[in-house]
Amino acid sequence: MIDVKHLCPGCMEYWEDTERPCPCCGFSWKTPAKAGRELPPFTILGGRYLLGNRIGTGGFGIIYIAMDLETEETVAVKEFFPVSYAERVGQDVTALPGEDGRYFREALGSFRKEARILSGFTDVENVIRYRDYVMENKTAYLITDYVKGIDLGQYMKITGKTFSQEEVLDLMHPILMAVDTLHSRHVLHRDVSPENLILSPEGRLTLIDFGGAREYDPEDTRNLTVILKHGYAPDEQYHSGSRQGPWTDLYACCAVMYQMISGILPQDGADRRIKDDLLPLDEIGGLTVTETFARAIEKGMTIHAPDRYLSISRLMADICPEDPNAGKTESRPETYKSEPAGTAEKRTGSSEGLSDLQPYRGPESGKGEAHRAAKALAEGADKKETGHSHTFYKWLKYLIPAALILTGLIIFFSVTEKQPDQTGTTEKAATGNMDQTVEGTAEDSTDAVIVPDVTGQSLAYAEETMRKAGFDVAKVSYEYSDTVSYGDVIGYQLDMEGMRVQILVSNGRQQ
Ligand SMILES: Nc1ncnc2c1ncn2[C@@H]1O[C@H](COP(=O)(O)OP(=O)(O)O)[C@@H](O)[C@H]1O
Ligand SMILES: [Mg+2]
Repeated sequence: MIDVKHLCPGCMEYWEDTERPCPCCGFSWKTPAKAGRELPPFTILGGRYLLGNRIGTGGFGIIYIAMDLETEETVAVKEFFPVSYAERVGQDVTALPGEDGRYFREALGSFRKEARILSGFTDVENVIRYRDYVMENKTAYLITDYVKGIDLGQYMKITGKTFSQEEVLDLMHPILMAVDTLHSRHVLHRDVSPENLILSPEGRLTLIDFGGAREYDPEDTRNLTVILKHGYAPDEQYHSGSRQGPWTDLYACCAVMYQMISGILPQDGADRRIKDDLLPLDEIGGLTVTETFARAIEKGMTIHAPDRYLSISRLMADICPEDPNAGKTESRPETYKSEPAGTAEKRTGSSEGLSDLQPYRGPESGKGEAHRAAKALAEGADKKETGHSHTFYKWLKYLIPAALILTGLIIFFSVTEKQPDQTGTTEKAATGNMDQTVEGTAEDSTDAVIVPDVTGQSLAYAEETMRKAGFDVAKVSYEYSDTVSYGDVIGYQLDMEGMRVQILVSNGRQQ
Protein backbone atom coordinates (compact mmCIF):
# COMPACT_ATOMS: atom_id res chain seq x y z
CA MET A 1 0.00 0.00 0.00
CA ILE A 2 1.42 3.39 -1.00
CA ASP A 3 1.94 5.80 1.86
CA VAL A 4 1.68 9.17 0.15
CA LYS A 5 3.16 10.92 3.19
CA HIS A 6 6.42 9.14 2.44
CA LEU A 7 6.34 9.30 -1.32
CA CYS A 8 8.70 11.74 -3.04
CA PRO A 9 6.94 13.56 -5.92
CA GLY A 10 10.33 14.15 -7.52
CA CYS A 11 11.24 10.48 -8.07
CA MET A 12 8.17 8.56 -6.74
CA GLU A 13 10.46 6.62 -4.37
CA TYR A 14 9.86 5.94 -0.68
CA TRP A 15 11.08 8.95 1.32
CA GLU A 16 11.79 8.23 4.97
CA ASP A 17 12.65 11.63 6.45
CA THR A 18 10.60 14.21 4.55
CA GLU A 19 12.14 17.01 6.64
CA ARG A 20 15.39 16.48 4.72
CA PRO A 21 15.91 16.56 0.95
CA CYS A 22 15.02 13.27 -0.73
CA PRO A 23 18.21 11.17 -0.78
CA CYS A 24 17.25 9.79 -4.18
CA CYS A 25 16.61 12.96 -6.20
CA GLY A 26 17.28 15.89 -3.85
CA PHE A 27 13.66 17.14 -3.91
CA SER A 28 12.61 19.15 -0.87
CA TRP A 29 9.20 20.55 0.06
CA LYS A 30 11.14 23.63 1.23
CA THR A 31 12.17 24.50 -2.35
CA PRO A 32 10.08 27.54 -3.36
CA ALA A 33 6.98 26.43 -5.25
CA LYS A 34 6.95 27.37 -8.91
CA ALA A 35 3.99 29.25 -10.28
CA GLY A 36 3.24 26.79 -13.04
CA ARG A 37 0.44 25.49 -15.16
CA GLU A 38 0.93 21.89 -14.12
CA LEU A 39 -1.45 19.88 -11.97
CA PRO A 40 -0.39 19.68 -8.31
CA PRO A 41 1.54 16.62 -7.14
CA PHE A 42 -0.58 13.68 -5.99
CA THR A 43 -3.47 14.44 -8.35
CA ILE A 44 -4.97 11.10 -9.44
CA LEU A 45 -5.82 10.57 -13.11
CA GLY A 46 -8.17 7.96 -14.46
CA GLY A 47 -8.49 6.54 -10.93
CA ARG A 48 -5.09 4.95 -11.48
CA TYR A 49 -2.17 7.32 -12.05
CA LEU A 50 -0.81 9.33 -9.13
CA LEU A 51 1.03 12.37 -10.46
CA GLY A 52 4.36 13.54 -9.13
CA ASN A 53 6.28 16.62 -10.28
CA ARG A 54 6.56 18.00 -13.77
CA ILE A 55 9.67 16.63 -15.52
CA GLY A 56 9.37 18.30 -18.89
CA THR A 57 7.40 20.81 -20.91
CA GLY A 58 6.97 21.62 -24.54
CA GLY A 59 4.60 23.66 -26.64
CA PHE A 60 2.02 20.90 -26.63
CA GLY A 61 2.41 19.10 -23.39
CA ILE A 62 3.46 18.87 -19.79
CA ILE A 63 5.26 15.72 -18.74
CA TYR A 64 5.00 14.39 -15.21
CA ILE A 65 6.61 11.57 -13.33
CA ALA A 66 3.83 9.46 -11.81
CA MET A 67 2.97 6.16 -10.22
CA ASP A 68 0.68 3.51 -11.64
CA LEU A 69 -1.30 2.64 -8.51
CA GLU A 70 -2.33 -0.75 -9.91
CA THR A 71 1.20 -1.99 -10.51
CA GLU A 72 3.09 0.45 -8.24
CA GLU A 73 5.48 1.16 -11.11
CA THR A 74 6.87 4.59 -11.93
CA VAL A 75 5.49 5.92 -15.20
CA ALA A 76 5.61 9.12 -17.27
CA VAL A 77 2.41 11.02 -18.04
CA LYS A 78 2.22 13.47 -20.94
CA GLU A 79 -0.69 15.88 -20.60
CA PHE A 80 -2.02 17.53 -23.76
CA PHE A 81 -1.66 21.26 -23.05
CA PRO A 82 -1.01 23.47 -26.09
CA VAL A 83 0.29 26.53 -24.26
CA SER A 84 -0.48 29.01 -27.01
CA TYR A 85 -4.10 27.96 -27.33
CA ALA A 86 -5.14 26.77 -23.90
CA GLU A 87 -5.25 27.63 -20.26
CA ARG A 88 -5.95 25.76 -17.05
CA VAL A 89 -9.34 26.40 -15.48
CA GLY A 90 -9.52 24.45 -12.23
CA GLN A 91 -8.11 21.10 -13.33
CA ASP A 92 -9.47 21.44 -16.86
CA VAL A 93 -7.48 22.41 -19.91
CA THR A 94 -9.62 24.62 -22.12
CA ALA A 95 -9.13 26.67 -25.28
CA LEU A 96 -8.28 30.33 -24.54
CA PRO A 97 -11.24 32.74 -24.51
CA GLY A 98 -11.91 34.09 -27.97
CA GLU A 99 -10.59 30.92 -29.62
CA ASP A 100 -13.08 28.89 -31.56
CA GLY A 101 -11.42 25.79 -30.23
CA ARG A 102 -10.84 24.43 -33.70
CA TYR A 103 -7.07 24.41 -33.51
CA PHE A 104 -7.24 22.98 -29.99
CA ARG A 105 -9.40 20.12 -31.25
CA GLU A 106 -7.16 19.51 -34.24
CA ALA A 107 -4.05 19.45 -32.06
CA LEU A 108 -5.80 17.09 -29.65
CA GLY A 109 -6.45 14.83 -32.63
CA SER A 110 -2.71 14.86 -33.38
CA PHE A 111 -1.94 14.05 -29.77
CA ARG A 112 -4.25 11.07 -29.99
CA LYS A 113 -2.42 10.03 -33.12
CA GLU A 114 0.86 10.15 -31.22
CA ALA A 115 -0.63 7.72 -28.68
CA ARG A 116 -2.07 5.48 -31.37
CA ILE A 117 1.18 5.27 -33.32
CA LEU A 118 3.21 4.62 -30.18
CA SER A 119 0.81 1.88 -29.08
CA GLY A 120 1.89 -0.09 -32.16
CA PHE A 121 5.49 -0.34 -30.97
CA THR A 122 5.29 -1.93 -27.52
CA ASP A 123 7.33 -4.86 -28.84
CA VAL A 124 10.27 -2.74 -30.00
CA GLU A 125 13.26 -2.41 -27.70
CA ASN A 126 14.65 1.07 -27.08
CA VAL A 127 11.37 2.76 -28.01
CA ILE A 128 9.53 4.30 -25.07
CA ARG A 129 6.80 1.83 -24.15
CA TYR A 130 3.18 2.94 -24.45
CA ARG A 131 1.01 1.99 -21.47
CA ASP A 132 -2.30 3.84 -21.55
CA TYR A 133 -4.33 6.78 -22.82
CA VAL A 134 -6.71 8.59 -20.48
CA MET A 135 -9.22 11.34 -21.28
CA GLU A 136 -9.96 13.58 -18.34
CA ASN A 137 -10.03 17.29 -17.41
CA LYS A 138 -11.23 18.13 -20.94
CA THR A 139 -7.86 16.99 -22.23
CA ALA A 140 -5.95 13.76 -22.74
CA TYR A 141 -3.02 11.97 -21.14
CA LEU A 142 -0.52 9.60 -22.68
CA ILE A 143 1.03 7.21 -20.19
CA THR A 144 4.36 5.54 -20.97
CA ASP A 145 7.13 3.83 -19.07
CA TYR A 146 9.32 6.22 -17.15
CA VAL A 147 12.99 6.14 -18.11
CA LYS A 148 15.49 7.07 -15.44
CA GLY A 149 18.25 9.28 -16.71
CA ILE A 150 18.66 12.50 -18.62
CA ASP A 151 18.03 13.36 -22.22
CA LEU A 152 21.11 13.24 -24.40
CA GLY A 153 20.77 16.93 -25.32
CA GLN A 154 20.89 18.05 -21.69
CA TYR A 155 23.62 15.56 -20.94
CA MET A 156 25.88 16.91 -23.69
CA LYS A 157 25.06 20.51 -22.78
CA ILE A 158 25.75 20.09 -19.06
CA THR A 159 28.79 17.84 -19.21
CA GLY A 160 30.22 19.18 -22.48
CA LYS A 161 31.09 15.56 -23.21
CA THR A 162 31.69 14.22 -26.69
CA PHE A 163 31.79 10.51 -27.47
CA SER A 164 34.30 8.29 -29.22
CA GLN A 165 33.22 6.53 -32.41
CA GLU A 166 33.01 3.25 -30.50
CA GLU A 167 30.79 4.80 -27.82
CA VAL A 168 28.53 6.37 -30.45
CA LEU A 169 28.07 3.03 -32.14
CA ASP A 170 27.40 1.27 -28.84
CA LEU A 171 24.76 3.84 -27.91
CA MET A 172 23.17 4.47 -31.29
CA HIS A 173 23.12 0.98 -32.75
CA PRO A 174 19.97 -0.06 -30.85
CA ILE A 175 18.33 3.26 -31.81
CA LEU A 176 19.13 2.69 -35.47
CA MET A 177 17.61 -0.77 -35.18
CA ALA A 178 14.50 0.69 -33.55
CA VAL A 179 14.08 3.44 -36.18
CA ASP A 180 14.57 0.85 -38.89
CA THR A 181 11.72 -1.17 -37.36
CA LEU A 182 9.48 1.94 -37.36
CA HIS A 183 10.22 2.33 -41.06
CA SER A 184 9.51 -1.31 -41.81
CA ARG A 185 6.03 -0.65 -40.37
CA HIS A 186 5.64 2.53 -42.42
CA VAL A 187 6.06 5.03 -39.62
CA LEU A 188 8.43 7.99 -39.64
CA HIS A 189 9.50 9.50 -36.33
CA ARG A 190 10.47 12.90 -37.83
CA ASP A 191 11.93 14.29 -34.62
CA VAL A 192 15.00 12.16 -33.84
CA SER A 193 17.25 14.48 -31.84
CA PRO A 194 19.34 14.38 -28.65
CA GLU A 195 16.39 15.84 -26.66
CA ASN A 196 14.27 12.87 -27.65
CA LEU A 197 16.81 10.26 -26.60
CA ILE A 198 16.99 9.51 -22.89
CA LEU A 199 20.33 8.27 -21.62
CA SER A 200 20.00 5.89 -18.67
CA PRO A 201 22.66 5.42 -15.99
CA GLU A 202 23.34 1.98 -17.49
CA GLY A 203 24.37 3.68 -20.72
CA ARG A 204 21.32 2.88 -22.83
CA LEU A 205 19.36 5.22 -25.06
CA THR A 206 15.57 5.20 -25.38
CA LEU A 207 13.73 6.96 -28.20
CA ILE A 208 10.80 9.09 -26.98
CA ASP A 209 8.40 11.74 -28.30
CA PHE A 210 6.28 10.49 -31.15
CA GLY A 211 4.56 13.89 -31.40
CA GLY A 212 5.84 14.36 -34.94
CA ALA A 213 5.51 10.71 -35.99
CA ARG A 214 3.40 9.94 -39.01
CA GLU A 215 2.35 6.85 -40.84
CA TYR A 216 3.46 7.22 -44.40
CA ASP A 217 2.47 5.70 -47.64
CA PRO A 218 5.56 4.47 -49.45
CA GLU A 219 3.67 5.05 -52.69
CA ASP A 220 3.16 8.70 -51.88
CA THR A 221 5.63 10.19 -49.43
CA ARG A 222 4.76 13.79 -50.28
CA ASN A 223 1.78 14.49 -48.13
CA LEU A 224 3.52 15.29 -44.88
CA THR A 225 3.30 18.41 -42.78
CA VAL A 226 6.14 20.54 -41.50
CA ILE A 227 7.75 19.64 -38.22
CA LEU A 228 11.44 20.03 -37.69
CA LYS A 229 14.27 20.62 -35.30
CA HIS A 230 17.09 22.83 -36.55
CA GLY A 231 20.31 20.97 -37.13
CA TYR A 232 18.74 17.52 -37.29
CA ALA A 233 16.08 18.10 -39.95
CA PRO A 234 17.06 17.75 -43.60
CA ASP A 235 15.95 20.30 -46.18
CA GLU A 236 12.87 18.30 -47.22
CA GLN A 237 11.35 18.75 -43.75
CA TYR A 238 11.09 22.51 -44.32
CA HIS A 239 8.37 22.13 -46.94
CA SER A 240 4.84 20.80 -46.60
CA GLY A 241 4.16 18.26 -49.29
CA SER A 242 7.85 17.45 -49.58
CA ARG A 243 8.94 13.89 -50.11
CA GLN A 244 9.73 12.55 -46.66
CA GLY A 245 10.62 8.95 -46.02
CA PRO A 246 13.06 6.75 -44.10
CA TRP A 247 15.87 8.91 -45.55
CA THR A 248 14.49 11.84 -43.50
CA ASP A 249 14.92 10.07 -40.14
CA LEU A 250 18.20 8.67 -41.38
CA TYR A 251 19.54 12.20 -41.86
CA ALA A 252 18.51 13.04 -38.28
CA CYS A 253 20.17 9.88 -36.86
CA CYS A 254 23.40 10.78 -38.67
CA ALA A 255 23.14 14.39 -37.44
CA VAL A 256 22.83 13.12 -33.86
CA MET A 257 25.91 10.90 -34.31
CA TYR A 258 27.76 13.82 -35.90
CA GLN A 259 27.07 15.97 -32.84
CA MET A 260 27.87 13.19 -30.36
CA ILE A 261 31.35 12.81 -31.83
CA SER A 262 32.17 16.42 -32.67
CA GLY A 263 30.16 18.33 -30.08
CA ILE A 264 29.01 20.54 -32.99
CA LEU A 265 25.34 21.12 -33.78
CA PRO A 266 25.14 20.46 -37.53
CA GLN A 267 24.33 23.38 -39.81
CA ASP A 268 20.62 23.83 -40.60
CA GLY A 269 19.30 21.57 -43.33
CA ALA A 270 17.71 24.46 -45.27
CA ASP A 271 20.80 26.67 -44.85
CA ARG A 272 22.95 23.97 -46.34
CA ARG A 273 21.00 24.13 -49.57
CA ILE A 274 22.09 27.76 -49.99
CA LYS A 275 25.68 27.31 -48.80
CA ASP A 276 26.87 24.01 -47.46
CA ASP A 277 29.39 24.60 -44.67
CA LEU A 278 29.06 21.25 -42.94
CA LEU A 279 32.54 19.88 -42.41
CA PRO A 280 33.02 16.13 -42.83
CA LEU A 281 33.94 14.55 -39.48
CA ASP A 282 37.45 13.63 -40.62
CA GLU A 283 38.16 17.27 -41.47
CA ILE A 284 37.41 18.48 -37.95
CA GLY A 285 40.63 18.80 -35.99
CA GLY A 286 41.19 16.62 -32.96
CA LEU A 287 38.65 13.90 -33.81
CA THR A 288 39.52 10.25 -34.22
CA VAL A 289 37.14 8.66 -36.69
CA THR A 290 37.59 6.00 -39.31
CA GLU A 291 37.37 7.00 -42.95
CA THR A 292 34.44 4.58 -43.41
CA PHE A 293 32.49 6.14 -40.56
CA ALA A 294 33.14 9.72 -41.72
CA ARG A 295 32.02 8.85 -45.29
CA ALA A 296 28.92 7.03 -44.00
CA ILE A 297 27.81 10.01 -41.89
CA GLU A 298 28.52 12.33 -44.80
CA LYS A 299 26.40 10.20 -47.11
CA GLY A 300 23.60 9.96 -44.55
CA MET A 301 23.58 13.76 -44.31
CA THR A 302 23.64 14.49 -48.03
CA ILE A 303 21.35 17.44 -48.80
CA HIS A 304 19.80 15.82 -51.86
CA ALA A 305 17.70 13.02 -50.36
CA PRO A 306 18.06 10.47 -53.19
CA ASP A 307 21.85 10.55 -52.73
CA ARG A 308 21.59 9.45 -49.09
CA TYR A 309 21.37 5.89 -47.89
CA LEU A 310 17.76 5.11 -48.50
CA SER A 311 17.37 2.86 -45.49
CA ILE A 312 18.86 2.65 -42.05
CA SER A 313 19.88 -0.95 -42.60
CA ARG A 314 22.05 0.12 -45.54
CA LEU A 315 23.73 2.66 -43.29
CA MET A 316 24.23 0.03 -40.59
CA ALA A 317 25.80 -2.33 -43.09
CA ASP A 318 28.51 0.30 -43.59
CA ILE A 319 29.06 1.52 -40.05
CA CYS A 320 28.52 -1.76 -38.19
CA PRO A 321 29.66 -4.34 -40.79
CA GLU A 322 30.44 -6.89 -38.08
CA ASP A 323 26.79 -6.89 -36.99
CA PRO A 324 25.17 -9.96 -38.58
CA ASN A 325 21.76 -8.30 -38.25
CA ALA A 326 22.67 -5.13 -40.12
CA GLY A 327 20.65 -4.93 -43.30
CA LYS A 328 18.48 -7.87 -42.33
CA THR A 329 15.64 -6.45 -40.25
CA GLU A 330 12.01 -6.38 -41.39
CA SER A 331 11.33 -5.48 -45.01
CA ARG A 332 11.46 -1.79 -45.90
CA PRO A 333 11.51 0.40 -48.93
CA GLU A 334 14.98 0.35 -50.40
CA THR A 335 14.25 2.86 -53.11
CA TYR A 336 13.52 6.53 -52.94
CA LYS A 337 9.83 6.04 -53.58
CA SER A 338 8.49 2.71 -54.61
CA GLU A 339 7.30 -0.15 -52.44
CA PRO A 340 5.06 -2.96 -53.59
CA ALA A 341 1.40 -2.07 -53.29
CA GLY A 342 -0.64 -3.91 -50.70
CA THR A 343 1.82 -3.56 -47.85
CA ALA A 344 -0.16 -0.73 -46.30
CA GLU A 345 -2.15 -3.12 -44.11
CA LYS A 346 1.05 -3.79 -42.19
CA ARG A 347 0.81 -0.27 -40.83
CA THR A 348 0.25 -0.03 -37.12
CA GLY A 349 -2.99 0.97 -35.46
CA SER A 350 -4.89 2.11 -38.47
CA SER A 351 -8.36 2.02 -36.91
CA GLU A 352 -9.68 5.30 -35.57
CA GLY A 353 -11.70 4.05 -32.57
CA LEU A 354 -10.56 4.42 -28.99
CA SER A 355 -10.58 0.65 -28.69
CA ASP A 356 -7.11 0.63 -30.21
CA LEU A 357 -5.80 2.55 -27.21
CA GLN A 358 -6.22 -0.02 -24.49
CA PRO A 359 -3.82 -0.13 -21.53
CA TYR A 360 -0.68 -2.08 -22.25
CA ARG A 361 -0.76 -5.36 -20.32
CA GLY A 362 2.82 -6.55 -20.55
CA PRO A 363 5.23 -7.91 -23.09
CA GLU A 364 3.59 -9.74 -25.94
CA SER A 365 4.44 -13.41 -26.15
CA GLY A 366 5.81 -13.35 -29.68
CA LYS A 367 8.29 -10.52 -29.60
CA GLY A 368 9.42 -9.13 -32.93
CA GLU A 369 12.57 -9.72 -34.83
CA ALA A 370 13.89 -6.34 -33.81
CA HIS A 371 13.49 -7.29 -30.17
CA ARG A 372 15.39 -10.52 -30.64
CA ALA A 373 18.03 -8.84 -32.72
CA ALA A 374 18.47 -6.06 -30.17
CA LYS A 375 18.70 -8.62 -27.37
CA ALA A 376 21.24 -10.66 -29.28
CA LEU A 377 23.17 -7.49 -29.91
CA ALA A 378 23.08 -6.51 -26.26
CA GLU A 379 24.31 -9.98 -25.31
CA GLY A 380 27.01 -9.79 -27.94
CA ALA A 381 27.97 -6.34 -26.74
CA ASP A 382 28.28 -7.63 -23.17
CA LYS A 383 30.60 -10.37 -24.30
CA LYS A 384 32.81 -8.25 -26.46
CA GLU A 385 32.82 -5.26 -24.12
CA THR A 386 36.23 -3.68 -24.30
CA GLY A 387 38.10 -2.10 -21.43
CA HIS A 388 37.44 1.23 -23.08
CA SER A 389 33.65 1.05 -23.16
CA HIS A 390 33.58 -0.57 -19.74
CA THR A 391 35.29 2.51 -18.33
CA PHE A 392 32.83 4.68 -20.23
CA TYR A 393 29.80 3.02 -18.63
CA LYS A 394 31.43 3.19 -15.21
CA TRP A 395 31.85 6.91 -15.80
CA LEU A 396 28.31 7.30 -17.01
CA LYS A 397 26.98 5.92 -13.72
CA TYR A 398 28.55 8.89 -11.95
CA LEU A 399 28.12 11.47 -14.68
CA ILE A 400 24.37 11.09 -15.09
CA PRO A 401 23.46 11.60 -11.41
CA ALA A 402 25.96 14.48 -11.34
CA ALA A 403 24.34 16.00 -14.42
CA LEU A 404 20.88 15.54 -12.88
CA ILE A 405 21.91 17.24 -9.65
CA LEU A 406 23.48 20.07 -11.67
CA THR A 407 20.26 20.48 -13.68
CA GLY A 408 18.33 20.60 -10.39
CA LEU A 409 20.68 23.28 -9.10
CA ILE A 410 20.40 25.35 -12.29
CA ILE A 411 16.61 25.18 -12.16
CA PHE A 412 16.65 25.89 -8.42
CA PHE A 413 18.79 28.99 -8.84
CA SER A 414 16.87 30.28 -11.83
CA VAL A 415 13.70 29.93 -9.76
CA THR A 416 15.09 31.58 -6.66
CA GLU A 417 16.81 34.39 -8.55
CA LYS A 418 13.58 35.32 -10.31
CA GLN A 419 11.26 35.23 -7.34
CA PRO A 420 8.05 33.37 -7.98
CA ASP A 421 5.14 35.60 -8.82
CA GLN A 422 1.53 34.97 -9.59
CA THR A 423 1.74 35.81 -13.27
CA GLY A 424 3.42 32.64 -14.40
CA THR A 425 6.56 34.40 -15.59
CA THR A 426 8.67 32.38 -13.19
CA GLU A 427 7.42 29.32 -14.93
CA LYS A 428 8.99 30.53 -18.13
CA ALA A 429 12.21 31.42 -16.35
CA ALA A 430 12.40 28.03 -14.69
CA THR A 431 11.67 25.94 -17.71
CA GLY A 432 13.13 28.24 -20.28
CA ASN A 433 11.19 26.74 -23.14
CA MET A 434 7.60 26.69 -22.04
CA ASP A 435 6.34 28.48 -25.10
CA GLN A 436 9.14 27.79 -27.44
CA THR A 437 7.96 24.75 -29.27
CA VAL A 438 5.57 26.90 -31.19
CA GLU A 439 7.22 30.24 -30.67
CA GLY A 440 10.76 28.95 -30.84
CA THR A 441 13.54 30.87 -32.46
CA ALA A 442 16.30 29.63 -34.66
CA GLU A 443 18.87 30.26 -31.90
CA ASP A 444 17.01 28.00 -29.55
CA SER A 445 17.76 25.04 -31.64
CA THR A 446 16.74 22.39 -29.14
CA ASP A 447 13.04 23.06 -29.59
CA ALA A 448 11.03 21.43 -32.30
CA VAL A 449 9.36 23.85 -34.67
CA ILE A 450 5.90 22.57 -35.40
CA VAL A 451 3.98 24.42 -38.05
CA PRO A 452 0.21 23.92 -37.95
CA ASP A 453 -1.09 21.95 -40.89
CA VAL A 454 -3.19 24.40 -42.91
CA THR A 455 -3.38 22.54 -46.20
CA GLY A 456 -6.90 22.53 -47.60
CA GLN A 457 -7.95 25.42 -45.31
CA SER A 458 -8.99 28.89 -46.47
CA LEU A 459 -6.22 31.47 -46.74
CA ALA A 460 -7.81 33.60 -44.00
CA TYR A 461 -7.90 30.66 -41.59
CA ALA A 462 -4.36 29.68 -42.54
CA GLU A 463 -3.03 33.19 -41.92
CA GLU A 464 -4.79 33.48 -38.58
CA THR A 465 -3.59 30.03 -37.47
CA MET A 466 0.00 30.80 -38.47
CA ARG A 467 -0.10 34.12 -36.66
CA LYS A 468 -1.41 32.54 -33.47
CA ALA A 469 1.29 29.89 -33.65
CA GLY A 470 3.92 32.65 -33.81
CA PHE A 471 4.78 32.50 -37.51
CA ASP A 472 4.86 35.46 -39.91
CA VAL A 473 3.31 34.85 -43.29
CA ALA A 474 6.11 36.25 -45.46
CA LYS A 475 4.60 35.53 -48.85
CA VAL A 476 1.40 34.21 -50.41
CA SER A 477 1.56 32.89 -53.94
CA TYR A 478 -1.09 31.41 -56.23
CA GLU A 479 -1.19 28.46 -58.57
CA TYR A 480 -3.84 26.55 -60.52
CA SER A 481 -4.85 23.26 -58.98
CA ASP A 482 -7.07 20.40 -60.10
CA THR A 483 -7.45 19.04 -56.61
CA VAL A 484 -7.56 22.00 -54.20
CA SER A 485 -10.56 24.36 -54.33
CA TYR A 486 -10.21 28.01 -55.27
CA GLY A 487 -8.83 30.07 -52.34
CA ASP A 488 -7.68 27.11 -50.27
CA VAL A 489 -4.11 26.34 -49.27
CA ILE A 490 -2.16 23.90 -51.47
CA GLY A 491 0.97 23.88 -49.31
CA TYR A 492 3.35 25.91 -47.23
CA GLN A 493 7.02 26.15 -46.57
CA LEU A 494 9.14 27.36 -43.69
CA ASP A 495 11.94 29.76 -44.49
CA MET A 496 15.45 29.41 -43.16
CA GLU A 497 15.00 31.54 -40.10
CA GLY A 498 12.39 29.05 -39.08
CA MET A 499 9.66 31.50 -38.11
CA ARG A 500 8.40 32.80 -41.47
CA VAL A 501 6.22 30.83 -43.80
CA GLN A 502 5.28 31.07 -47.43
CA ILE A 503 1.81 29.89 -48.38
CA LEU A 504 0.74 28.57 -51.76
CA VAL A 505 -2.96 29.08 -52.52
CA SER A 506 -5.12 27.50 -55.20
CA ASN A 507 -6.49 29.56 -58.10
CA GLY A 508 -8.88 26.71 -58.84
CA ARG A 509 -8.84 24.73 -62.09
CA GLN A 510 -7.27 26.34 -65.11
CA GLN A 511 -10.11 27.05 -67.57
N1 LIG B 1 9.03 8.51 -20.51
C1 LIG B 1 9.83 9.45 -20.06
N2 LIG B 1 10.73 9.17 -19.08
C2 LIG B 1 11.55 10.15 -18.61
N3 LIG B 1 11.57 11.43 -19.04
C3 LIG B 1 10.71 11.76 -20.02
C4 LIG B 1 9.80 10.80 -20.58
N4 LIG B 1 9.06 11.41 -21.51
C5 LIG B 1 9.49 12.69 -21.55
N5 LIG B 1 10.49 12.91 -20.68
C6 LIG B 1 11.20 14.18 -20.47
O1 LIG B 1 10.36 15.25 -20.88
C7 LIG B 1 10.96 15.94 -22.01
C8 LIG B 1 9.87 16.33 -23.00
O2 LIG B 1 9.17 15.16 -23.42
P1 LIG B 1 8.74 14.93 -24.93
O3 LIG B 1 7.92 13.69 -25.01
O4 LIG B 1 9.96 14.99 -25.79
O5 LIG B 1 7.79 16.17 -25.18
P2 LIG B 1 7.80 17.36 -26.23
O6 LIG B 1 6.88 16.91 -27.30
O7 LIG B 1 7.29 18.50 -25.45
O8 LIG B 1 9.23 17.54 -26.72
C9 LIG B 1 11.97 14.98 -22.59
O9 LIG B 1 13.03 15.64 -23.28
C10 LIG B 1 12.45 14.23 -21.35
O10 LIG B 1 13.46 15.00 -20.69
MG1 LIG C 1 10.66 16.20 -27.34
